[in-house]
Amino acid sequence: DKGGHKHFMAKEIAEQPTVLAEAIRSYLTPDGKGIALPGDGIDFTTVDRLTMVACGTASYACLTAKYWFEQFARIPVDVDIASEFRYREPPIPARTTALFVSQSGETADTLAALRYCHEKAERIVSVVNVPESSIARESDLALPIHAGVEVGVASTKAFTCQLVVLLLLALKAATDRGEMSADELAAHLAELRSLPGVLNAALERGKDVRKVARKLAEARDVLFLGRGLMFPLALEGALKLKEISYIHAEAYASGELKHGPIALIDKTVPVVVMAPRDALFDKTVSNMQEVMARGGKVLLITDSEGAQDAGEGVWQQIILPSVAPILTPILYALPAQQLAYHTAIAKGTDVDQPRNLAKSVTVE
Ligand code: M6R
Repeated sequence: DKGGHKHFMAKEIAEQPTVLAEAIRSYLTPDGKGIALPGDGIDFTTVDRLTMVACGTASYACLTAKYWFEQFARIPVDVDIASEFRYREPPIPARTTALFVSQSGETADTLAALRYCHEKAERIVSVVNVPESSIARESDLALPIHAGVEVGVASTKAFTCQLVVLLLLALKAATDRGEMSADELAAHLAELRSLPGVLNAALERGKDVRKVARKLAEARDVLFLGRGLMFPLALEGALKLKEISYIHAEAYASGELKHGPIALIDKTVPVVVMAPRDALFDKTVSNMQEVMARGGKVLLITDSEGAQDAGEGVWQQIILPSVAPILTPILYALPAQQLAYHTAIAKGTDVDQPRNLAKSVTVE
């Protein structure tokens, strides 16, 4: 049932405020000020290293979480795509927790990577949407994301729910390890609880995205740029766009621009810059200006402060509400998804069943 939407993807994008609220609620203590994990939970004081493994969109959730875990909890994190991890057979140091993220819980490479970690990692944790899946069953602890069934091949609500669960884990790790006070935690959780309302406000601006997408649909190649937490989001935006609109899209960390991709810039290649007005904003903007100085067309996704400071001369803008810096990846996932969706609609491709792709990749 598409719930009145034309596509499952549209429905699943629209559902995010509701499913996220449920995911958040299910991991908070009744007073909303603490984090309660299911089962025996995880005591992060005994974790020296976190190895995160996944495929596709789930791997971008891991990459985002690396910033959170390192910044808040000061735990070193490796992120690997499962198909590389499993055959590289990496050494697993003592006191490593291995964390697998998978919507379906059945992705062949992720499951094989998990099996490789049996008897090697101190603990195997998974973040899954399907609690009875193979990956969940073979983990010491399975953390559900509560996204509900996701039908669209392009993952949307599962990604943002994965981000919520991973953020809560990182905050839990930070408090366990004495890197964050109970008051700081409570403040972050209060921000997180207000996120569904902010997402609703962002979704209401869907029409603006649709207008921009009509123009983007004319491009053959698109670049996505972001720094810090926006780098994994740029990767996700590019993946979504190529998956369902078949437009060639690449993502780079903004700082890598000069190391090669800037050679691609001309007026035919739109550059999507994801840049909330955060601590790294000025750096990203200077990369954006390098693009514009070479005749590149910039689509800036930012908040109103960012638009005021750097919006001049850009080709297109999508303006989002402002949120606490730690929440920007969850918010900026929405325009990334909507942009891909409306671009695909403008091109007339099959949004829910894109060519050559399966929802769950159970063979390698
Ligand atoms: O079920 P999983 O989360 O393990 O799936 C991983 C990828 O196959 C999946 O995220 C894929 O990249 C999506 N089609 C992205 O939209």
